[in-house]
Amino acid sequence: MTPVRGFYVDNILGDLNGTLAVAESATGGAYPPGSVVQLFPNEAMVKRQKGFSPITKDWEFFELDVDKNGTTIRKRGFQDVKNRFNGNCFSCHQAAQPQWDMICETGHGCKALPINTLSILALQNTDPRCKPAKIPFKQHVTAWFIKVFTPL
Ligand code: HEC
Repeated sequence: MTPVRGFYVDNILGDLNGTLAVAESATGGAYPPGSVVQLFPNEAMVKRQKGFSPITKDWEFFELDVDKNGTTIRKRGFQDVKNRFNGNCFSCHQAAQPQWDMICETGHGCKALPINTLSILALQNTDPRCKPAKIPFKQHVTAWFIKVFTPL
């Protein structure tokens, strides 16, 4: 996927340029259908066709299992999907100001995640689906701790 600041995007309908244009816009906008956005390897937001789920602005939320063979969907849906810490995706992401189309990052109005940048980087850089990346020892140790102590 293509990195944008701290997260990754793609477009499964082939409109990566459209997705990137919104992701990189300083004033926000609505992501085009087919957009896939990820922060953690095991979560994703996918933009469905216009009108598919007005309440979630047509975003579908995914909770995934990932390993070296690929991705399996653990949960998918709109208002009701929860992550493995029992946090509801929609209830956090809906707090983003309207111009950001439910993308939280920082400063968009969402409650901050209880996880720091080092941990986010460590999880991204040890995604089991990707070729092993050369990363600082601190990230390896952090990723190991998170994997051992995260409820499955
Ligand atoms: C406790 C609130 C909360 C919950 C629950 C939550 N998120 Fe997020 N999410 C955030 C915040 C805040 C960020 C931005 C983090 C950052 O960039 O530091 C974020 C980032 C993301 C991103 C990267 C784009 C963005 O919005 O910055 C995706 C994709 C995402 N979350 C998907 C999900 C999915 C899917 C679920 C449910 C399985 C979920 N999130 C649950 C608050 C939450």
